[in-house]
Amino acid sequence: MSSVFYRSALPYPVAVKAAGPYLWDSAGRRYLDGASGALVANIGQGRGEVAEAMAQAARTLAFVHGSQFSSPALEEYSARLMAFLDLPGYRFWAVSGGSEATESAIKLSRQYHAERGEPGRFRIITRRPSYHGASLGSLAASGMGARRELYAPLMNEDAWPKLAAPNPHADGAQDAEALRTLIGQLGPDTVAAFMAEPVVGASDAALAPAAGYYERIADICRESGVLFIADEVMSGMGRCGTPLAVRQWGGPGTDMLTPDIVVLGKGLAAGYAPLAGIAASPGVYAAVMGGSGAFKHGFTYAGHPVSVAAGAAVLGVLEQEDLLRRSRELGTRLLGGLRELQTRHPVMLEVRGRGLMLGVVLGDPQTGQSFQTPGTAARVGRAAFGLGLITYPGSGAVDGVRGDHLLLGPPLSLTDEQADELLEKLDAAFMGIE
Ligand SMILES: Cc1ncc(COP(=O)(O)O)c(C=O)c1O
Repeated sequence: MSSVFYRSALPYPVAVKAAGPYLWDSAGRRYLDGASGALVANIGQGRGEVAEAMAQAARTLAFVHGSQFSSPALEEYSARLMAFLDLPGYRFWAVSGGSEATESAIKLSRQYHAERGEPGRFRIITRRPSYHGASLGSLAASGMGARRELYAPLMNEDAWPKLAAPNPHADGAQDAEALRTLIGQLGPDTVAAFMAEPVVGASDAALAPAAGYYERIADICRESGVLFIADEVMSGMGRCGTPLAVRQWGGPGTDMLTPDIVVLGKGLAAGYAPLAGIAASPGVYAAVMGGSGAFKHGFTYAGHPVSVAAGAAVLGVLEQEDLLRRSRELGTRLLGGLRELQTRHPVMLEVRGRGLMLGVVLGDPQTGQSFQTPGTAARVGRAAFGLGLITYPGSGAVDGVRGDHLLLGPPLSLTDEQADELLEKLDAAFMGIE
């Protein structure tokens, strides 16, 4: 009998090794990871240079506590990361996972306003659907019925207003005006921040708002003194083909779109170590350090030297192998392939995505709407898994229950042949459920 507390009562295969985009289980079965775990393992597995950098860091300085020391690894990595993301003057606050990072962004935005003499600003507006994490604060911020419902009695709903999902087929700027209306209804002097995933991940497979949306969101936030937090935990670090997905709005020649706080995770250390964090604007940092002088928040393992070393090595791979360009190229190839599959499997209502963050919306081809009873995405996911392909199925995008989708996000280092293998296996998985 196992001593492991599993995520569910399902029998899990035991993964024993991985290389590139492939994993092997203890029975010798090979899986192509079409989801990089949960869009994490962005450079593929088994990279010796990353393992070496981590071992070297552990030998040199295994641990420091953030209340006592900084470290060369953290100093160098933070500077390098802010340069990669083109966030001059921003400060990097390193933590261990995406939920800790969104939680940090939420608390920092609240403290920012208090430091500036506006302690009445406490509300964090997010969208429905959305996913910002599993800790109580980040889950309260999440508009994801199934994961949130059980814990709702522990949340003060007044603090977590929700905006409707953007409509990718609408006028983007007009669509964003809903935020102005909501802030007006709540009272701008009660709102601390608006947080959104620039390209929506787990809750609504790669949904991207129309052009003009985030430009207007940023304007509305600025005009109402509300901080704009971009949760790039999934979409950032090249996953969508650019260092930050939100910069795909705004465009060259205009002021590049720059949120007050950017949240990062997943691809940051690409699964080699637990690493996430937030990048805070010079103004936000100055308000705290020039006010009370300390962020009233912290985690024991924040800025862990081994995690940070992994992050630096991963950044090196992304740059040396030009994996952001690869993300864009492969994204185009896979999107084309998915459109072809769509002609054979009408249950694939819509395919979409940015770079290598790709989504397939599933539904009833007769009505063009989501199925009344969810479960199709899970069935496709199981069929694919049985064929040796890992996908990221989800449901609930429409009303918290209905709305099936598949999220795909293989490593950015995938070859063209491996991309074709992914499409072939997905094709077979859809045939398996028909
Ligand atoms: C956009 C977004 N934010 C936050 C999180 C939470 O990250 P973690 O699971 O590392 O706590 C996730 C995880 O899927 C995410 O997709």
